[in-house]
Amino acid sequence: MTDISKSNGARVGGLDEDRLSSWRSNGYLVLTDFCTSNEISLLRGAIDRLVNGFDVTGFRTTFSAADQSHAADKYFRESGDKIRFFFEPGAVDESGNLTVELRRGLNKIGHAMHDLDTEFGEFFRAPKFAELAFGLGLADPCPVQSMVIFKQPRIGAEVGMHQDASFLYTDPVSVIGFWLALDDADRENGCLVALPGAHTGPLKERFHYSGGDLVMTSLDPSSQWGDVEPVYLEVPAGSLVVLHGLLPHGSAPNRSDRAREAVTLHVVDAAAKWSNDNWLQRPASMPFMGFR
Ligand code: FE2
Repeated sequence: MTDISKSNGARVGGLDEDRLSSWRSNGYLVLTDFCTSNEISLLRGAIDRLVNGFDVTGFRTTFSAADQSHAADKYFRESGDKIRFFFEPGAVDESGNLTVELRRGLNKIGHAMHDLDTEFGEFFRAPKFAELAFGLGLADPCPVQSMVIFKQPRIGAEVGMHQDASFLYTDPVSVIGFWLALDDADRENGCLVALPGAHTGPLKERFHYSGGDLVMTSLDPSSQWGDVEPVYLEVPAGSLVVLHGLLPHGSAPNRSDRAREAVTLHVVDAAAKWSNDNWLQRPASMPFMGFR
């Protein structure tokens, strides 16, 4: 891993040819020192502000990335244009009451901070994200989804291998994931795990609306990802991991006593066709906004 700011040679959107070559062959990039400790402190402050503003009253859902039980949950379905809070299994009882302290029970916040929150908007729409998206080949990069992902000490759940294009589909596939580590991430606290080069394979499944239901549809009869050795993306805080939309990736549970928080932004190419049956919906009054 090297510091992007110290790369030599010709650059496209801050990426030299070595980086672009690595991106094409592996389907991911690790950019250490993408954010300063000051930027991380500001982000943490913005997260604390959101959490402190959460209205516990009336809250009635839990969210687990380990299965699709959330699919029928109206709260999740309608979160594409909102800022909503999702909790670890067991953190909310049958009556919707928190069983643990709010900050310790959160699984994630999503999915429109980049459009609804001034601080998150300014952070994610900084030139360095736009330049990166253009540099990676998107003709008209457009942020569609933002998240704060908490991987709580001891209880932070596994996220199984998946392709982001299954959830944010365009024709052709264009989604790129930006994953920024707020803490040092390693095997013990649940760093990302990816299958290098497997992004050259097909999209395996799609999570989408069918009628009024959200369903996962298999697109590829082979259920395996192929014989690829997984790589653990252990990175220091401030690192940005960039993920191709077809790259299989996930993360292990957090078995440590340390937090492993991250923020993510998913960007698609507005030049590609956004699929209207994607789970993530925007009303006409709140369309996606590109970087331009
Ligand atoms: Fe993902």
